[in-house]
Amino acid sequence: MVVNNVVHVNECGLPLNAIEWLVKHHQSKLKERGQMIRDLRLERGSFVVDAGCGPGLWTPFLADAIGLEGSILGIDISTEALISAQRISNNTWYRHLVQYKRAMLEQLPIEHGSADLIFSANVSQYLPEPAVTFAAMGPYLKRGGQLVIKDIDFGTMKFHGIDPMLQARVLQARERWEMERVANGYAHEDSWVGSKLAGYLRDAGFKDVEERAYKIVREAPLPADFRFYLEGIAEWFVCEGAPYLSHNDRTHWLQCFTDKTNNALDHENFRSEETEFVVSGVWDSSTKPCFYADMHVESPHGEPILLTNDAL
Ligand SMILES: C[S@@+](CC[C@H](N)C(=O)[O-])C[C@H]1O[C@@H](n2cnc3c(N)ncnc32)[C@H](O)[C@@H]1O
Repeated sequence: MVVNNVVHVNECGLPLNAIEWLVKHHQSKLKERGQMIRDLRLERGSFVVDAGCGPGLWTPFLADAIGLEGSILGIDISTEALISAQRISNNTWYRHLVQYKRAMLEQLPIEHGSADLIFSANVSQYLPEPAVTFAAMGPYLKRGGQLVIKDIDFGTMKFHGIDPMLQARVLQARERWEMERVANGYAHEDSWVGSKLAGYLRDAGFKDVEERAYKIVREAPLPADFRFYLEGIAEWFVCEGAPYLSHNDRTHWLQCFTDKTNNALDHENFRSEETEFVVSGVWDSSTKPCFYADMHVESPHGEPILLTNDAL
């Protein structure tokens, strides 16, 4: 069964079947993701931008938090995702609060200093220079407004009941595939970004940076949506990491997740653990972003000098 057959990609490197995948993945973690938004303690009446909103799956949580007095602008570069978002929000109680527009994270279609909160979930993994993008988003916030970035981190994934050495080899193959992909000029992807977000926000010039880690644990018997999610990522890992895995590893790994008779997901000791990160920072327009590399300025004699943090 091919759950997430990664063949064609959209303009930011996402599989074209990603909307169905995103919906199922989101449903399987609904409890924790709802909590992530409640923990932000948004004020009623806030203006929130959902940056890289995809099919708008976070809109109901955001709408619940800000109420009918608030407003949400969902932006994305994918027209396909925006059409789905619009379709999903039709006939909902929050449809009058939300608007969807095609735009990039770095150039939001709003005035500077106008957003109470910019929220962005599962997008930072595709940003080649996250701190540069976050710094570009800061000025759109009101004074004291917050940027909240949520993302995954495959480094936190553990499947109890599956050979840990096999897991390590599969994850290493996946990581290597991501690095090779970027090195060969394909769209950027960092599925280990979650635990790096706090550093990126600080580098971008945000203050009062706070990280919240949400551990997502599911045990056998697994809910059907979570099982779909695990089968999907298990196949995705070996498809993409295939060149760096032995035939035995690929076969054994797929057996663990999809075998009809001896499937690890059916074992009573099976347990899946993963942590997702939500990092917030307050925009401080007086702070200069502090990037670690590739910041060149002209010296008085005309030759470029590389700025380090000490020099800033
Ligand atoms: C994995 S999806 C996440 C969608 C949604 N936030 C969620 O969590 O369900 C990533 C989305 O980010 C969008 N995206 C990626 N880079 C972007 C950019 N620079 N500006 C705007 N959207 C972007 C993609 O088109 C895609 O819809």
